Amino acid sequence: MEPPAPIPLNRVSLTGAELGNLETALNGGHLGADGPFTRRCEALLEEMLGGGRVLLTTSGTHALELAALLLDVAPGDEVVVPAFSFPSTASAFALRGARPVFCDIRPDTLNLDEARLEALLGGRTRAVVPVHYAGIGCEMEAITAAADRRGTSVVEDAALGLGGRRHGQALGRLGRLSALSFHATKAAGCGVGGALVVNDPGLVERAEVLRDRGTDRARMLRGEVGPYTWQEPGSSWAPSDLLAAVLCAQLEALSALLGRRRRIWERYQEALATWAEERGVRLPAAPPGCIPAWTVFWLLLPDPGRRAGLIDRLAARGVEAAVHYQPLHLSPAGRRLGGRPGDCPVTEGVCERLLRLPLHAELGDEDVERIVAALVEGW
Ligand SMILES: Cc1ncc(COP(=O)(O)O)c(C=O)c1O
Repeated sequence: MEPPAPIPLNRVSLTGAELGNLETALNGGHLGADGPFTRRCEALLEEMLGGGRVLLTTSGTHALELAALLLDVAPGDEVVVPAFSFPSTASAFALRGARPVFCDIRPDTLNLDEARLEALLGGRTRAVVPVHYAGIGCEMEAITAAADRRGTSVVEDAALGLGGRRHGQALGRLGRLSALSFHATKAAGCGVGGALVVNDPGLVERAEVLRDRGTDRARMLRGEVGPYTWQEPGSSWAPSDLLAAVLCAQLEALSALLGRRRRIWERYQEALATWAEERGVRLPAAPPGCIPAWTVFWLLLPDPGRRAGLIDRLAARGVEAAVHYQPLHLSPAGRRLGGRPGDCPVTEGVCERLLRLPLHAELGDEDVERIVAALVEGW
């Protein structure tokens, strides 16, 4: 008998509407930016988030880069980011010449530790960029209060957050600016894509200009000006409507896609709770008032020595499991900024011990049972 196909860590779950949308976009002839599918995606996202002005971008990274440009981040500025994140969280601001300052994370949610934030804020801090790891909301109230006291902006890196909520508010609505990602690994994906959510109405018009090659083309499209002209340095961060056509199908099915992820997450919790407790393994848990976006299901192993072997044993049983972020302050770029071992001890410990299990809407119930059995046997 053929061995069952390996279970991948991530997979885009096609809804069936993507091809039809692509055909409509191709036949409609609007293949450039800001076509009908882009407008539909933006309206859908604004509705889901309960407000804000959403601008689709070519990636989550580009949404962060647009945020940095929009806040006039410049050499001499500092931007506080969690040491446990994807490189783009820091890189988007470093690209403008700012110095990332790395903040350690909370041991429970693995989100930026608000208790350590105050000490890192100074006269040069231009922004704080919290990340909702695994789609579980950060301590945004404390983070925002600390940023407000210093007159600095919060840019919410909600790349993993779409669909999650904190105290009734959607993740993606909690920063002055917020970045979303539609990378293939996310609940709704179009391969590579993202969005900037402009939650400060005063920044909307300039955000449109910077995203559209530094021009006022958006105002022209609304009939507010004649031929559009160059306003200031900007870039080309708006995606083709072909990508928006794929994304639109995904966003229209988002609640079903999230619902499936939620059921898998809950089954992992149920099947592994006792097993994990007996072995000193920690599983993710949402604090009161937080509804996760069900983006990552992680295990925190009691010791780093076990992880590589466990990944191999899971692979031998046809299950792809993986590590996640590496400490930003210890990366080559982080070390050039002065990062040293011991600067962010919680991040360093977590990065050595964290393991991700497959989590995507294509997993069937029998796949989930296979993953649980492989973990228990492979331990
Ligand atoms: C926290 C975080 N921020 C930003 C990004 C970058 O998003 P994108 O891949 O859409 O550029 C990622 C990617 O997964 C991420 O995990």
